[in-house]
Amino acid sequence: MSGKISFDDGAAYERGMGGWSRVAGDIFLDWLKPPPGLAWVDVGCGNGAFTELLVQRCAPAEVQGIDPSEGQVSYAATRPGAAGAHFQVGDAQALPFEAARFGAATMALVIFFVPDPVQGVAEMVRVVQPGGLVAAYVWDILEGGFPFEPLLAELRAHGYTPALPPSAEASRMPALRALWQGGGLERVETREIVVERRFADFEGYWASGTNSGSVKATLAKFPAEKLAGFREGVRARLTSAADGSVSYTARANAIRGVRPA
Ligand SMILES: C[S@@+](CC[C@H](N)C(=O)[O-])C[C@H]1O[C@@H](n2cnc3c(N)ncnc32)[C@H](O)[C@@H]1O
Repeated sequence: MSGKISFDDGAAYERGMGGWSRVAGDIFLDWLKPPPGLAWVDVGCGNGAFTELLVQRCAPAEVQGIDPSEGQVSYAATRPGAAGAHFQVGDAQALPFEAARFGAATMALVIFFVPDPVQGVAEMVRVVQPGGLVAAYVWDILEGGFPFEPLLAELRAHGYTPALPPSAEASRMPALRALWQGGGLERVETREIVVERRFADFEGYWASGTNSGSVKATLAKFPAEKLAGFREGVRARLTSAADGSVSYTARANAIRGVRPA
């Protein structure tokens, strides 16, 4: 199994990662406790799952979302819960905004996809005002924190090497601290975000993790018997309850800092 993780379908993202993203985003915003009335830039806004939380929870003066994926951005622009936010195609490493335009910059589940995370942080620092907030959270993917780790682990057990984000190392907490401190940010704080989700049955979890991307493409080539064994391997990695529901606990690393005044 090879290749690159791509994001070309906002609806598929919603069925897969959307629910996880929202629960993690809620915990992140509980922690940030931002004041109302800020102008926000949501870098790597994807299909708007986290942008919607900014609109609904933060009483923003303005929200700008940027993401390189046309498929994600076009879905975000039709999301009723994010009405009022603006979306455009763009790259974290060259934000299409003037310096000091925003009160807060966020990257929700994004920094490990940015080819040059140092440049990505520098761009967030550039576009926030002195005293502005720069914050991010990211699945702790190299330490088993990814919501679909049971699928990745089972793939590894079957001899496959699942694709990882290009800057996966940036997801580790010490790497995040180094990025924020290297970017000149002050009052840097971190926390772990733990997200437990329960699905009514195994099928719910399975469908959410296999509905798109390289995992779907790999499994499509499995003969029926191998696929059945693979499914049982994934099931065994989840917590099952007597009522047939299954649950899994994911973890993300979160960081915040302030641009010096
Ligand atoms: C896991 S999704 C997160 C989306 C959204 N922020 C959320 O919380 O649901 C990662 C996103 O990062 C975007 N991305 C990848 N490379 C990027 C880059 N260089 N600059 C900005 N975003 C990027 C992808 O297109 C994708 O939408």
